[in-house]
Amino acid sequence: MTFDSEKLQMKIYESGDGAAKLLPVSFDEWESKAKSLLAAAPFGYVHGAAGAGDTNRSNVEAFQKYRIRPRVCCDITKRDMSISLFGAKLPFPVLFAPIGVNTILHPEGELAPARAASKLGIPYILSNVSSIPMETVAEAMGNHVRWFQLYPPKNHELTRSFLERAEAAGYSAIVVTVDSTLLGWRETDLRNAYLPFLSGQGMGNYFTDPVFCSMLKEPPDQDKEAAVKLALDEGNNTCFTWKELDFIRQQTRLPVLIKGITHPDDAVMALEHGVDGIIVSNHGGRQLDGAVATLDSLPAIGEAVQGKVPVLLDSGIRRGADILKAIALGADAVLIGRPYAYALAVAGETGVREVMEHLVAETELQLAISGKSSIREVDASLVVQVK
Ligand code: FNR
Repeated sequence: MTFDSEKLQMKIYESGDGAAKLLPVSFDEWESKAKSLLAAAPFGYVHGAAGAGDTNRSNVEAFQKYRIRPRVCCDITKRDMSISLFGAKLPFPVLFAPIGVNTILHPEGELAPARAASKLGIPYILSNVSSIPMETVAEAMGNHVRWFQLYPPKNHELTRSFLERAEAAGYSAIVVTVDSTLLGWRETDLRNAYLPFLSGQGMGNYFTDPVFCSMLKEPPDQDKEAAVKLALDEGNNTCFTWKELDFIRQQTRLPVLIKGITHPDDAVMALEHGVDGIIVSNHGGRQLDGAVATLDSLPAIGEAVQGKVPVLLDSGIRRGADILKAIALGADAVLIGRPYAYALAVAGETGVREVMEHLVAETELQLAISGKSSIREVDASLVVQVK
Protein backbone atom coordinates (compact mmCIF):
# COMPACT_ATOMS: atom_id res chain seq x y z
CA MET A 1 0.00 0.00 0.00
CA THR A 2 1.14 3.56 -0.58
CA PHE A 3 1.30 5.76 2.45
CA ASP A 4 1.93 9.48 2.52
CA SER A 5 2.36 10.87 6.01
CA GLU A 6 2.66 14.48 4.82
CA LYS A 7 -0.59 14.24 2.84
CA LEU A 8 -2.36 12.77 5.85
CA GLN A 9 -1.01 15.53 8.07
CA MET A 10 -2.11 18.21 5.57
CA LYS A 11 -5.59 16.69 5.24
CA ILE A 12 -6.06 17.19 8.97
CA TYR A 13 -4.84 20.81 8.86
CA GLU A 14 -7.05 21.54 5.88
CA SER A 15 -10.15 20.28 7.66
CA GLY A 16 -10.11 23.78 9.22
CA ASP A 17 -13.47 24.55 10.74
CA GLY A 18 -14.29 20.85 10.84
CA ALA A 19 -11.72 20.35 13.59
CA ALA A 20 -14.39 19.92 16.23
CA LYS A 21 -15.68 16.87 14.36
CA LEU A 22 -12.29 15.17 14.24
CA LEU A 23 -11.46 12.12 16.29
CA PRO A 24 -8.83 12.43 19.03
CA VAL A 25 -5.18 12.79 18.06
CA SER A 26 -3.08 11.99 21.12
CA PHE A 27 -3.08 8.77 23.16
CA ASP A 28 -4.27 10.66 26.25
CA GLU A 29 -7.26 12.04 24.35
CA TRP A 30 -8.24 8.59 23.04
CA GLU A 31 -7.93 7.22 26.55
CA SER A 32 -10.08 9.91 28.14
CA LYS A 33 -12.68 9.73 25.36
CA ALA A 34 -12.90 5.96 25.87
CA LYS A 35 -13.28 6.54 29.59
CA SER A 36 -16.18 8.91 28.98
CA LEU A 37 -17.96 6.45 26.66
CA LEU A 38 -17.42 3.09 28.34
CA ALA A 39 -18.89 1.81 31.57
CA ALA A 40 -16.37 1.82 34.43
CA ALA A 41 -15.77 -1.96 34.39
CA PRO A 42 -14.77 -2.48 30.72
CA PHE A 43 -12.73 0.73 30.74
CA GLY A 44 -11.00 -0.48 33.90
CA TYR A 45 -10.31 -3.84 32.27
CA VAL A 46 -8.29 -2.17 29.50
CA HIS A 47 -6.73 0.59 31.59
CA GLY A 48 -5.96 -1.47 34.66
CA ALA A 49 -2.78 -3.31 35.45
CA ALA A 50 -1.39 -5.61 38.11
CA GLY A 51 -1.01 -4.39 41.69
CA ALA A 52 0.07 -0.79 42.10
CA GLY A 53 0.48 -0.38 38.34
CA ASP A 54 4.26 0.06 38.68
CA THR A 55 5.15 -2.12 35.69
CA ASN A 56 2.63 -0.39 33.49
CA ARG A 57 4.00 3.02 34.48
CA SER A 58 7.63 1.99 34.12
CA ASN A 59 6.96 0.65 30.61
CA VAL A 60 5.96 4.15 29.55
CA GLU A 61 8.61 5.97 31.60
CA ALA A 62 11.42 3.79 30.20
CA PHE A 63 11.07 5.60 26.87
CA GLN A 64 11.93 8.89 28.59
CA LYS A 65 15.39 7.59 29.52
CA TYR A 66 16.41 7.80 25.87
CA ARG A 67 16.57 10.81 23.58
CA ILE A 68 16.81 10.84 19.82
CA ARG A 69 19.91 12.60 18.51
CA PRO A 70 19.11 13.68 14.95
CA ARG A 71 21.43 14.18 12.01
CA VAL A 72 20.81 17.06 9.62
CA CYS A 73 21.39 17.84 5.94
CA CYS A 74 20.36 14.35 4.85
CA ASP A 75 18.15 13.75 1.82
CA ILE A 76 14.93 12.52 3.35
CA THR A 77 12.63 13.06 0.36
CA LYS A 78 11.97 9.35 -0.06
CA ARG A 79 11.18 7.29 3.03
CA ASP A 80 10.96 3.56 3.47
CA MET A 81 9.37 2.11 6.57
CA SER A 82 9.15 -1.45 5.29
CA ILE A 83 10.71 -4.46 6.95
CA SER A 84 10.65 -8.14 6.17
CA LEU A 85 9.49 -10.71 8.69
CA PHE A 86 9.33 -14.47 8.08
CA GLY A 87 9.67 -13.92 4.35
CA ALA A 88 6.81 -11.40 4.15
CA LYS A 89 7.36 -7.73 3.38
CA LEU A 90 5.54 -5.52 5.87
CA PRO A 91 4.91 -1.85 5.04
CA PHE A 92 5.72 -0.69 8.59
CA PRO A 93 7.55 -2.14 11.60
CA VAL A 94 4.22 -2.33 13.43
CA LEU A 95 1.71 -5.07 14.29
CA PHE A 96 -1.54 -5.24 16.25
CA ALA A 97 -0.95 -6.80 19.69
CA PRO A 98 -3.35 -9.60 20.57
CA ILE A 99 -6.13 -8.12 22.69
CA GLY A 100 -8.92 -10.42 23.76
CA VAL A 101 -12.61 -10.02 24.45
CA ASN A 102 -13.14 -6.99 22.16
CA THR A 103 -16.96 -7.16 22.45
CA ILE A 104 -16.67 -5.35 25.78
CA LEU A 105 -15.39 -2.38 23.75
CA HIS A 106 -17.44 -2.51 20.56
CA PRO A 107 -20.28 -4.71 19.26
CA GLU A 108 -18.20 -5.79 16.22
CA GLY A 109 -15.52 -7.16 18.53
CA GLU A 110 -12.32 -8.32 16.82
CA LEU A 111 -13.83 -7.86 13.35
CA ALA A 112 -13.28 -4.09 13.60
CA PRO A 113 -9.50 -4.12 14.26
CA ALA A 114 -9.07 -7.05 11.86
CA ARG A 115 -10.71 -5.04 9.06
CA ALA A 116 -8.71 -1.92 9.92
CA ALA A 117 -5.51 -4.00 9.87
CA SER A 118 -6.37 -5.39 6.44
CA LYS A 119 -6.96 -1.93 5.02
CA LEU A 120 -3.65 -0.66 6.37
CA GLY A 121 -1.65 -3.77 5.46
CA ILE A 122 -0.60 -4.15 9.10
CA PRO A 123 -0.50 -7.72 10.49
CA TYR A 124 -3.25 -8.52 12.97
CA ILE A 125 -2.54 -10.89 15.84
CA LEU A 126 -5.83 -12.44 16.90
CA SER A 127 -6.12 -13.28 20.58
CA ASN A 128 -6.91 -16.81 21.71
CA VAL A 129 -9.65 -15.26 23.87
CA SER A 130 -11.34 -13.34 21.07
CA SER A 131 -15.11 -13.04 21.24
CA ILE A 132 -15.31 -13.78 17.49
CA PRO A 133 -14.09 -17.21 16.29
CA MET A 134 -10.82 -17.25 14.35
CA GLU A 135 -12.47 -18.51 11.14
CA THR A 136 -14.95 -15.59 11.08
CA VAL A 137 -12.13 -13.09 11.63
CA ALA A 138 -10.10 -14.77 8.87
CA GLU A 139 -13.01 -14.48 6.46
CA ALA A 140 -13.28 -10.75 7.15
CA MET A 141 -9.56 -10.30 6.42
CA GLY A 142 -9.32 -11.99 3.01
CA ASN A 143 -5.67 -12.75 2.36
CA HIS A 144 -4.18 -10.08 4.63
CA VAL A 145 -1.49 -11.08 7.10
CA ARG A 146 -2.79 -12.48 10.37
CA TRP A 147 -1.18 -14.41 13.20
CA PHE A 148 -2.86 -16.40 15.94
CA GLN A 149 -1.99 -16.01 19.62
CA LEU A 150 -2.28 -19.06 21.82
CA TYR A 151 -2.77 -19.25 25.57
CA PRO A 152 -1.46 -22.79 25.69
CA PRO A 153 -4.21 -25.05 27.01
CA LYS A 154 -3.37 -27.88 29.39
CA ASN A 155 -5.00 -30.38 27.09
CA HIS A 156 -2.76 -31.41 24.18
CA GLU A 157 -5.67 -32.34 21.91
CA LEU A 158 -7.19 -28.91 22.40
CA THR A 159 -3.80 -27.30 21.74
CA ARG A 160 -3.50 -29.29 18.53
CA SER A 161 -7.02 -28.36 17.50
CA PHE A 162 -6.42 -24.61 17.96
CA LEU A 163 -3.18 -24.85 15.97
CA GLU A 164 -4.76 -26.83 13.15
CA ARG A 165 -7.71 -24.45 12.94
CA ALA A 166 -5.39 -21.45 12.85
CA GLU A 167 -3.30 -22.92 10.07
CA ALA A 168 -6.39 -23.93 8.06
CA ALA A 169 -7.82 -20.40 8.44
CA GLY A 170 -4.70 -18.79 6.98
CA TYR A 171 -2.96 -17.52 10.11
CA SER A 172 0.70 -17.45 9.16
CA ALA A 173 2.43 -17.50 12.57
CA ILE A 174 1.67 -18.64 16.11
CA VAL A 175 2.34 -16.42 19.12
CA VAL A 176 2.56 -18.40 22.34
CA THR A 177 1.94 -16.16 25.34
CA VAL A 178 3.83 -17.47 28.34
CA ASP A 179 3.52 -14.71 30.94
CA SER A 180 -0.12 -15.39 31.78
CA THR A 181 -0.51 -18.98 32.88
CA LEU A 182 -2.50 -17.46 35.71
CA LEU A 183 -4.16 -14.10 36.13
CA GLY A 184 -2.28 -11.20 37.79
CA TRP A 185 -3.71 -9.38 40.83
CA ARG A 186 -5.69 -6.63 39.09
CA GLU A 187 -7.10 -4.25 41.67
CA THR A 188 -9.44 -2.31 39.37
CA ASP A 189 -11.11 -5.48 38.10
CA LEU A 190 -11.32 -6.86 41.64
CA ARG A 191 -12.96 -3.65 42.84
CA ASN A 192 -15.42 -3.86 39.96
CA ALA A 193 -15.80 -7.65 40.45
CA TYR A 194 -15.36 -7.82 36.67
CA LEU A 195 -13.96 -10.65 34.60
CA PRO A 196 -15.68 -10.47 31.18
CA PHE A 197 -15.10 -14.16 30.43
CA LEU A 198 -17.52 -15.15 33.17
CA SER A 199 -20.40 -13.79 31.08
CA GLY A 200 -19.27 -15.90 28.12
CA GLN A 201 -17.44 -13.14 26.23
CA GLY A 202 -14.00 -13.87 24.79
CA MET A 203 -14.96 -17.51 24.24
CA GLY A 204 -15.30 -17.43 20.44
CA ASN A 205 -12.54 -19.94 19.80
CA TYR A 206 -13.37 -22.29 22.67
CA PHE A 207 -17.10 -22.58 22.14
CA THR A 208 -16.64 -23.40 18.43
CA ASP A 209 -13.92 -25.97 19.00
CA PRO A 210 -14.88 -29.63 18.46
CA VAL A 211 -12.28 -30.92 20.94
CA PHE A 212 -13.30 -28.38 23.57
CA CYS A 213 -16.99 -29.20 23.11
CA SER A 214 -16.24 -32.92 23.37
CA MET A 215 -14.78 -32.26 26.83
CA LEU A 216 -18.13 -30.86 28.06
CA LYS A 217 -21.15 -32.75 29.37
CA GLU A 218 -23.53 -30.22 27.76
CA PRO A 219 -22.84 -27.91 24.78
CA PRO A 220 -21.86 -24.31 25.74
CA ASP A 221 -25.30 -22.90 24.84
CA GLN A 222 -26.93 -25.27 27.31
CA ASP A 223 -24.49 -24.92 30.18
CA LYS A 224 -22.46 -21.75 29.64
CA GLU A 225 -21.18 -21.66 33.19
CA ALA A 226 -19.54 -25.07 32.95
CA ALA A 227 -18.10 -24.23 29.52
CA VAL A 228 -16.58 -20.96 30.77
CA LYS A 229 -15.17 -22.72 33.82
CA LEU A 230 -13.47 -25.34 31.64
CA ALA A 231 -12.03 -22.71 29.26
CA LEU A 232 -10.58 -20.71 32.15
CA ASP A 233 -9.24 -23.87 33.71
CA GLU A 234 -7.53 -24.87 30.44
CA GLY A 235 -5.96 -21.40 30.19
CA ASN A 236 -4.71 -21.49 33.78
CA ASN A 237 -1.88 -23.69 32.63
CA THR A 238 0.45 -23.32 35.60
CA CYS A 239 2.39 -26.46 34.68
CA PHE A 240 3.46 -25.02 31.32
CA THR A 241 7.24 -25.47 30.88
CA TRP A 242 9.75 -25.54 28.03
CA LYS A 243 8.71 -29.16 27.43
CA GLU A 244 5.20 -27.94 26.59
CA LEU A 245 6.67 -25.39 24.23
CA ASP A 246 8.49 -28.25 22.48
CA PHE A 247 5.14 -29.96 22.04
CA ILE A 248 3.67 -26.85 20.39
CA ARG A 249 6.76 -26.49 18.20
CA GLN A 250 6.30 -30.05 16.97
CA GLN A 251 2.61 -29.57 16.13
CA THR A 252 2.93 -26.80 13.56
CA ARG A 253 4.96 -25.88 10.52
CA LEU A 254 4.19 -22.21 11.09
CA PRO A 255 6.74 -19.87 12.67
CA VAL A 256 6.33 -19.90 16.47
CA LEU A 257 7.00 -16.75 18.49
CA ILE A 258 7.15 -16.65 22.26
CA LYS A 259 5.49 -13.63 23.92
CA GLY A 260 6.29 -12.49 27.44
CA ILE A 261 10.10 -12.60 27.57
CA THR A 262 11.99 -10.01 29.63
CA HIS A 263 15.03 -12.02 30.82
CA PRO A 264 17.95 -12.66 28.43
CA ASP A 265 18.39 -16.20 29.81
CA ASP A 266 14.79 -16.98 28.86
CA ALA A 267 15.49 -15.62 25.38
CA VAL A 268 18.40 -18.09 25.12
CA MET A 269 16.18 -20.93 26.40
CA ALA A 270 13.53 -19.99 23.85
CA LEU A 271 16.11 -20.19 21.05
CA GLU A 272 17.24 -23.58 22.31
CA HIS A 273 13.64 -24.73 22.14
CA GLY A 274 13.32 -23.73 18.51
CA VAL A 275 11.29 -20.52 18.53
CA ASP A 276 11.31 -18.43 15.38
CA GLY A 277 10.80 -15.10 17.11
CA ILE A 278 10.80 -13.44 20.52
CA ILE A 279 8.32 -10.87 21.75
CA VAL A 280 9.71 -8.82 24.61
CA SER A 281 6.56 -8.10 26.60
CA ASN A 282 5.22 -7.91 30.12
CA HIS A 283 1.59 -7.92 28.97
CA GLY A 284 1.32 -4.16 29.39
CA GLY A 285 2.02 -4.51 33.11
CA ARG A 286 -1.13 -6.57 33.61
CA GLN A 287 0.56 -9.61 35.08
CA LEU A 288 3.52 -8.90 37.38
CA ASP A 289 3.65 -5.68 39.36
CA GLY A 290 7.03 -4.08 40.05
CA ALA A 291 8.57 -5.77 37.02
CA VAL A 292 11.26 -4.54 34.66
CA ALA A 293 10.08 -2.35 31.77
CA THR A 294 10.26 -3.96 28.36
CA LEU A 295 12.44 -1.24 26.82
CA ASP A 296 14.91 -1.69 29.69
CA SER A 297 15.01 -5.43 28.94
CA LEU A 298 15.51 -5.05 25.22
CA PRO A 299 19.28 -4.40 24.81
CA ALA A 300 20.32 -7.45 26.85
CA ILE A 301 17.85 -9.64 24.98
CA GLY A 302 19.15 -8.35 21.66
CA GLU A 303 22.67 -9.27 22.78
CA ALA A 304 21.56 -12.75 23.83
CA VAL A 305 19.68 -13.41 20.59
CA GLN A 306 22.42 -12.03 18.32
CA GLY A 307 20.10 -11.59 15.35
CA LYS A 308 19.30 -15.32 15.13
CA VAL A 309 15.56 -14.63 15.15
CA PRO A 310 13.47 -11.45 15.00
CA VAL A 311 12.91 -9.62 18.29
CA LEU A 312 9.63 -7.73 18.67
CA LEU A 313 8.59 -5.53 21.58
CA ASP A 314 5.41 -4.27 23.17
CA SER A 315 4.20 -2.60 26.37
CA GLY A 316 4.24 1.17 26.63
CA ILE A 317 4.32 2.14 22.94
CA ARG A 318 2.23 5.29 22.69
CA ARG A 319 3.75 7.36 19.87
CA GLY A 320 6.19 7.55 16.98
CA ALA A 321 9.17 8.48 19.14
CA ASP A 322 8.62 5.29 21.18
CA ILE A 323 8.61 3.17 18.03
CA LEU A 324 11.84 4.77 16.81
CA LYS A 325 13.53 4.28 20.19
CA ALA A 326 12.47 0.61 20.40
CA ILE A 327 13.88 -0.03 16.93
CA ALA A 328 17.08 1.86 17.75
CA LEU A 329 17.55 -0.36 20.81
CA GLY A 330 17.19 -3.57 18.83
CA ALA A 331 13.53 -4.35 18.11
CA ASP A 332 12.71 -5.45 14.57
CA ALA A 333 9.10 -4.34 15.03
CA VAL A 334 6.66 -3.34 17.75
CA LEU A 335 3.16 -4.36 18.79
CA ILE A 336 0.53 -1.74 19.54
CA GLY A 337 -1.91 -2.57 22.36
CA ARG A 338 -3.99 -0.11 24.42
CA PRO A 339 -3.93 2.71 21.82
CA TYR A 340 -6.06 0.67 19.41
CA ALA A 341 -8.23 -0.76 22.20
CA TYR A 342 -9.28 2.75 23.24
CA ALA A 343 -9.83 3.77 19.62
CA LEU A 344 -12.02 0.70 19.12
CA ALA A 345 -14.20 1.78 22.02
CA VAL A 346 -14.45 5.35 20.71
CA ALA A 347 -15.06 4.82 17.00
CA GLY A 348 -14.91 1.13 16.03
CA GLU A 349 -13.04 0.25 12.85
CA THR A 350 -12.67 3.94 11.87
CA GLY A 351 -11.10 4.74 15.22
CA VAL A 352 -8.67 1.82 15.07
CA ARG A 353 -7.68 2.71 11.55
CA GLU A 354 -7.12 6.32 12.49
CA VAL A 355 -5.02 5.63 15.58
CA MET A 356 -2.79 3.19 13.72
CA GLU A 357 -2.48 5.46 10.70
CA HIS A 358 -1.47 8.37 12.91
CA LEU A 359 1.11 6.26 14.72
CA VAL A 360 2.64 5.21 11.42
CA ALA A 361 2.56 8.76 10.04
CA GLU A 362 4.19 10.14 13.16
CA THR A 363 6.88 7.45 13.07
CA GLU A 364 7.64 8.17 9.44
CA LEU A 365 7.97 11.90 10.05
CA GLN A 366 10.10 11.25 13.13
CA LEU A 367 12.35 9.00 11.08
CA ALA A 368 12.80 11.64 8.41
CA ILE A 369 13.30 14.55 10.81
CA SER A 370 15.96 12.56 12.63
CA GLY A 371 17.85 12.34 9.34
CA LYS A 372 17.08 8.80 8.15
CA SER A 373 15.26 7.75 5.03
CA SER A 374 14.88 4.06 5.87
CA ILE A 375 13.75 2.42 9.08
CA ARG A 376 16.36 -0.25 8.40
CA GLU A 377 19.11 2.35 8.90
CA VAL A 378 18.00 2.94 12.49
CA ASP A 379 20.39 1.60 15.11
CA ALA A 380 21.62 2.42 18.61
CA SER A 381 23.55 5.44 17.33
CA LEU A 382 20.23 7.27 16.90
CA VAL A 383 19.59 7.51 20.65
CA VAL A 384 21.45 8.67 23.73
CA GLN A 385 20.66 7.53 27.23
CA VAL A 386 19.98 10.37 29.66
CA LYS A 387 20.80 10.07 33.34
C1 FNR B 1 -4.00 -7.64 26.47
N1 FNR B 1 -2.89 -8.42 26.14
C2 FNR B 1 -3.06 -9.69 25.68
N2 FNR B 1 -1.99 -10.46 25.33
C3 FNR B 1 -2.15 -11.71 24.82
O1 FNR B 1 -1.16 -12.35 24.52
N3 FNR B 1 -3.42 -12.21 24.67
C4 FNR B 1 -4.54 -11.53 25.01
O2 FNR B 1 -5.65 -12.01 24.86
C5 FNR B 1 -4.36 -10.23 25.56
N4 FNR B 1 -5.45 -9.50 25.95
C6 FNR B 1 -5.29 -8.20 26.39
C7 FNR B 1 -6.41 -7.44 26.73
C8 FNR B 1 -6.26 -6.10 27.09
C9 FNR B 1 -7.47 -5.29 27.42
C10 FNR B 1 -4.96 -5.52 27.11
C11 FNR B 1 -4.77 -4.05 27.43
C12 FNR B 1 -3.86 -6.28 26.82
C13 FNR B 1 -1.53 -7.84 26.15
C14 FNR B 1 -1.19 -7.18 24.81
O3 FNR B 1 -1.00 -8.14 23.81
C15 FNR B 1 0.09 -6.35 24.91
O4 FNR B 1 1.12 -7.14 25.43
C16 FNR B 1 -0.10 -5.11 25.79
O5 FNR B 1 -1.32 -4.48 25.48
C17 FNR B 1 1.04 -4.13 25.60
O6 FNR B 1 0.97 -3.09 26.53
P1 FNR B 1 0.37 -1.63 26.17
O7 FNR B 1 1.21 -1.05 25.10
O8 FNR B 1 -1.05 -1.84 25.77
O9 FNR B 1 0.47 -0.88 27.46
